[in-house]
Amino acid sequence: MTLQIEKIRNDFPILKRKIKGHSLVYLDNAASSQKPKQVLDAMHSFYQANYANIHRGVYTIAEEATEAFESAREAVVKFIHAKSIREVIFTRGTTESINLVRFAWGTKNIQSGDEILLTEMEHHSNLVPWQMLAKEKGAKLKFIPIDAQGRLDLNKLDDLLSPKTKLLAMTWCSNTLGTINPVEKIIAAAHAKGIPVLLDAAQAAPHIAIDVQKIDCDFLAFSSHKMLGPTGIGVLYAKEALLENMDPFLGGGEMIKTVEWESSTWNDLPGKFEAGTQSIAEAVGLKAAIEYLESIGMEAIHQHEQSLVRYTMERLREVEGVKMFGPPAEERCGLVAFTLNGVHPHDVAAILDRNGICVRAGHHCTQPLHRKLGLEASVRASFYVYNTKEEVDLFIDALKETAKVFKQ
Ligand SMILES: Cc1ncc(COP(=O)(O)O)c(C=O)c1O
Repeated sequence: MTLQIEKIRNDFPILKRKIKGHSLVYLDNAASSQKPKQVLDAMHSFYQANYANIHRGVYTIAEEATEAFESAREAVVKFIHAKSIREVIFTRGTTESINLVRFAWGTKNIQSGDEILLTEMEHHSNLVPWQMLAKEKGAKLKFIPIDAQGRLDLNKLDDLLSPKTKLLAMTWCSNTLGTINPVEKIIAAAHAKGIPVLLDAAQAAPHIAIDVQKIDCDFLAFSSHKMLGPTGIGVLYAKEALLENMDPFLGGGEMIKTVEWESSTWNDLPGKFEAGTQSIAEAVGLKAAIEYLESIGMEAIHQHEQSLVRYTMERLREVEGVKMFGPPAEERCGLVAFTLNGVHPHDVAAILDRNGICVRAGHHCTQPLHRKLGLEASVRASFYVYNTKEEVDLFIDALKETAKVFKQ
């Protein structure tokens, strides 16, 4: 399955930009993706023709805006194969989705002495909220370790899923190692012991097909901005029965059914978890992004990224002093983190920028994982639908130059 790459690239206006005289080579997609004109146009025309606040107005454009917002929810339901719109909550992004679970589910269900199981490859977004909850409640965090290849070491899973474990919260794809975790198998093991599972799908939703019913996760969180959509909107999927038993996250307008001076009752799902004015135009943009991804096909996108990451890993081996982290290309989503001996990752990124090449340098919000790898920082190149082998070549050439300059 090959993508019609030139046609795709034409949809992304920013790819025509020159940086310091060079064509822009955008390889920081794991941080955030670029936006096709279909997304930009959808938001622009929504603001120009249909914009109003939603759910309240009885006039035409308010009804149109409500319809646009709710049809975005339906697009998400279809995209992740949820059972109904009641299971899809709009949030500001993955971080907020996970924090929603921490407050609305965790406060009620985690008690002193309980354990929350995470993995050693979590992004801070799926680590810090649980640290805060554990501290508040007197609970304990445990971690599924990684092996030398950057895969989860599942030999210890059975022991780690103890009678005290009340939640397993883990990433589907690592934003640093690239590892795609065998989530279906892990969820089945957790469920066999009655333990619910939250998946951080920030790096999965943009790159691989998701079927929440098939994998049977209990919670799933992702962000629009990494999957061609705008910033300021994301999704929390949760099984309806869990959401029904959770208290609201934020209080305010929209999430209520009735309000008295002293007390209130809550709106039906999903409104119960959507307090205040939502990111309306952003939902319109997210729907356009989902339609764009679906028009290409998630399987084709995954194949394309795997071929780029395989090629990149091959070519990185040509560069003296490069050390890569994570499993073989076949087990990855489209990213590779590495170090260049003797050159600080920030210097690598700064020199690549002189050639118009955008890569990320730092700890990528996985400080404990970096420390476990014996690093403070690494360089990460991450790919998406619009990247090409020619861009990988430009990146490798510039990296070889960098290595040469620092060797002198
Ligand atoms: C694996 C993972 N989880 C969570 C996040 C946080 O996403 P956001 O900043 O959109 O909330 C990221 C973003 O880099 C990520 O890669």
